Amino acid sequence: VSSGPDDRVGQLAERYASQSRAYQELWGPVLEKLGERLLREVDCTGIARVLDIGTGVGVLLPHLARTFRGATVIGVDRSPGMLACVPNGPILAVMDASHLALAPRAFDLAVLAFVLFHLPEPIVGLVEAGRVLRAGGRIATATWGTELESAATQVWTEELDAHGAAPLDAASDLAQHELVDTPEKLAGLLASAGFVSIRSWSEQSTHTLGGEHLVRLRTSVGRSKHRFDSLDRASQSACLASARHRFAALRPEDFMARAQVVYSVARAP
Ligand SMILES: C[S@@+](CC[C@H](N)C(=O)[O-])C[C@H]1O[C@@H](n2cnc3c(N)ncnc32)[C@H](O)[C@@H]1O
Repeated sequence: VSSGPDDRVGQLAERYASQSRAYQELWGPVLEKLGERLLREVDCTGIARVLDIGTGVGVLLPHLARTFRGATVIGVDRSPGMLACVPNGPILAVMDASHLALAPRAFDLAVLAFVLFHLPEPIVGLVEAGRVLRAGGRIATATWGTELESAATQVWTEELDAHGAAPLDAASDLAQHELVDTPEKLAGLLASAGFVSIRSWSEQSTHTLGGEHLVRLRTSVGRSKHRFDSLDRASQSACLASARHRFAALRPEDFMARAQVVYSVARAP
């Protein structure tokens, strides 16, 4: 795996490592539900070797083992710090999704759940997944169509803005959602990577994120943390107090967050 001063992939791996415990507690359960949804669309026949690319803290690994009973399941991720949080058991390896150190045609199923937008070139990750799949092997992907938003997340963003948090720029975001945020884009990329029998669709997903969950999530994981961290101590305290005050006046439904999720399944030729 590469690293260097201009290494966005390495930078991302370090960021994930530093947030891995919070990710596991606060964000993992959200993605787990969406990953399970994706797996329900995969044809289970003839799947004995499964590769979870960008497995993170491994939330999908037990579901893969249950869904594809008896299969060998391997999780790979660029961030050793994320893999360190995976409970003991599964086979794991540090690997870059764009350069898998794996033999051609070694797998029957490759899963990329919420990973493609992190790759410098998503098409390269798809071609690489195709390389390690046998003929007729399956690929399953999930990406964000829209951000997970609720009235409460809106309040949080307004408070960050009001207290002068730095805007989010592409360099600090380390994600390119716009490359993979519609079924059409995914279908196009999968076709360009040589996949066939492509099915790509988008679905609304809802999650209740209560006020304190939201505060902990937004101050400890991902790009919103980056904005919060840009504030000085006094502004952070004021932002938190103001957000909590406004949350107290919201209705339960205001904490119901909605997102469009883009799912795809396809076959290697
Ligand atoms: C949003 S998390 C998703 C984790 C997991 N698939 C899930 O659904 O919970 C994205 C993961 O992709 C990993 N990742 C990002 N870029 C990667 C790359 N180039 N190669 C391998 N893993 C990568 C990150 O380290 C992180 O663990």
